[in-house]
Amino acid sequence: MKTVISTDRIAAVELLRKGELVALPTETVYGLAASALNPIAVAKIFEAKERPRFDPLIVHLPNREWLKRIAELPAGHRQLISKLADKFWPGPFTMVLPKRKVVPDIVTAGLDTVAVRLSAHCVFAEIVGELDEPLAAPSANRFGHVSPTTAQHVFDELGGRIPLIIDAGPTEHGIESTIVAVRDGRIEILRRGPITGEQLSEFADIVCVAVTQRIFAPGQLPSHYTPTTPLLLIDNAEAFPLQKNQRVGLLALGGACPSPRSSQLEGFAAVRNLSDRGDLREAASNLFRYLRELDALGLDLIVAERIPSRGLGAAIMDRLERATH
Ligand code: TXA
Ligand code: MG
Repeated sequence: MKTVISTDRIAAVELLRKGELVALPTETVYGLAASALNPIAVAKIFEAKERPRFDPLIVHLPNREWLKRIAELPAGHRQLISKLADKFWPGPFTMVLPKRKVVPDIVTAGLDTVAVRLSAHCVFAEIVGELDEPLAAPSANRFGHVSPTTAQHVFDELGGRIPLIIDAGPTEHGIESTIVAVRDGRIEILRRGPITGEQLSEFADIVCVAVTQRIFAPGQLPSHYTPTTPLLLIDNAEAFPLQKNQRVGLLALGGACPSPRSSQLEGFAAVRNLSDRGDLREAASNLFRYLRELDALGLDLIVAERIPSRGLGAAIMDRLERATH
């Protein structure tokens, strides 16, 4: 199959209407979209990604109105769910809710819950709005690979397998949406992301569901975002014992004064600084791109500097920890 990269939104809507796959930009990462109410179209997502059928997909709504058509809003939690939606939608935020019958089982991998999100990306919003049907869309990478943040990444992952990739430049956040479930009046964080625990704690008590406690799906398994090059987390790159004939790449997060550092980092075969200013938003948006770039250099090892596990730092560390397995 020939894969076209373009900005032709009308072609995207036409393909989706016909039950075909189209890769679309969102504010987090690029997604591989199909009509969520068409089980045959959704099956094509699993094929193209080589994704196991037990891993459920996120349903992206055309607008808030669609929420009650897709999901049940349990009476006891309706208020909290509405408040969260008011605050974080449209945006990089996904809620797992009891599903309605209209959602095909293949979308939820047989679970009685469905993950729903409303994307703020103007191109995504325009396409799903024009279609006026929800879209199932996982990240547009092959199973187990890091998520794509540019159209070219999608092409590298899925070229030849899908007809169309809509290009809207690099994505804003660079890491996948925060996923929560509301249970017993508390917010359970199932996947950390751009909406932080600190932000959520203003609405209810929060619990981070440890990976070992409850594994719904591979996105929550300890190892998921794996580059082919071994990756090691370290505390301080300057103190890393480089071996003579070992080619090591460094993924760093620059602090206030990056220039004096650079001379001390000469021994590394390649260095990518997630953010010279030490800005976590910038770091998150560069994370997967730099991991991909370092992975493509055929190095012996990639080392990544740990960052404080606070706010967005926790979401970044979460991706890095999984990538080390
Ligand atoms: O930012 C994002 O969320 C991107 C963009 C494209 O929207 N999508 C994304 O989808 O990251 P995906 O499929 O790569 O990750 C979705 C995660 C998976 O780990 C899946 O297991 C989990 O959401 N998930 C989906 N439905 C679920 C459910 N009903 N209960 C628990 N986890 C669920
Ligand atoms: Mg994914």
